Amino acid sequence: MRYFDYAATTPTDLAVLTLMHDIAKRYPGNPSSLHEAGIAAKKRYNQAKNAVAELLNTTRKNLIFTATGSEANNLAIQGFHRKHPSARILTTAVEHKATLNACHHLKTTGADVVVLAVTPKGEVDIDALKQHLTPGKHHFLSLIYANNETGTLLNWDAIQTAIKPYDTTIHLDMIQVPLYHPLDFTSLKADMVSLSAHKFHGPRGVGLLYVRNLDIIEPLIYGGNHEFKRRAGTENLPAICGFAAALKTAQTQAKSHDNATQRLAKRLLDKLDAFGVDYSLNGHPLNDARLAAIINLGFGGVSADVLAFELDRQGFYVSLGSACDAGNIEPSHVLSAMGVPSPYLEGSIRISLGKDLTVDDVDALAEAIHTLTT
Ligand SMILES: Cc1ncc(COP(=O)(O)O)c(C=O)c1O
Repeated sequence: MRYFDYAATTPTDLAVLTLMHDIAKRYPGNPSSLHEAGIAAKKRYNQAKNAVAELLNTTRKNLIFTATGSEANNLAIQGFHRKHPSARILTTAVEHKATLNACHHLKTTGADVVVLAVTPKGEVDIDALKQHLTPGKHHFLSLIYANNETGTLLNWDAIQTAIKPYDTTIHLDMIQVPLYHPLDFTSLKADMVSLSAHKFHGPRGVGLLYVRNLDIIEPLIYGGNHEFKRRAGTENLPAICGFAAALKTAQTQAKSHDNATQRLAKRLLDKLDAFGVDYSLNGHPLNDARLAAIINLGFGGVSADVLAFELDRQGFYVSLGSACDAGNIEPSHVLSAMGVPSPYLEGSIRISLGKDLTVDDVDALAEAIHTLTT
């Protein structure tokens, strides 16, 4: 099998799995218990959280572990709205469904929600943004930093300039970022940031919300005093330790991994060009403001579900838009919002690259695509 779906999820590193197994055995206690086993578990939890805080250049007190990235996005958006119900919520049409559907839900309850248009490359349309900024109003922006379907990076500098005169709180969904870019939450001008371990070779089922000032959100889950009373529930210690270990590897290797996936992406496109395949790269060119590891290609002569199915039969695992929408044969909401024209819209697949892939794998995929699209 050749796995080209790293943006959907990444295989958990063996070292992370081994550590998690060890933690589960060595720390049977509940971190909230006052006996020795509980105190030991609490110590280990604090150690893992401190390690994550150090990697992200923040403090333990700004971090809330959640069960998923989707939960982190919901806590940011809904948690903020609970505290500031009159703030205008601004998001974009190319967000992950965890963000879009949280915003759609709030709109049905009467919240002031605006879904901003994007440019053909998938960047925030700055004119559209400016139209919805109002003096004297508080604005909450929830924005995806690296798009999970196209790899497009947020036009962050232009956004910061546009919002400067206004009252804003910003949440960034950076869930696709840690494998490729070093992170520093103190210098990043965001109030909240979401991460999810399974996107950087950590375990599934553990996410994180960074919050610069905990007072800006209400919890969505009530219960005990966990996570500074912002997210109740017994801490998943093995997963949290796995998160910390995987983040360390991801951040240590981010630059070299970014370069390696860029080389593979270039190789893939060069091969397709050499075969004369009719394709269009959705979003930015490879050397522009994007993650090279997430490549969205539209093909002129074949529908995406047929192509993905045939590739699957040959052992190549690619994706139709985002994995959450697999089985849904509607064109991707992201590509539709970018105005990708037919027939490329219906013929688009996502190929996402990762560390276990070789040049041979990429060459084999290019050849298979060539055969299936001609
Ligand atoms: C950009 C982005 N945001 C949010 C999520 C949701 O994360 P999780 O799968 O941990 O709920 C994903 C995962 O597909 C993602 O890629």
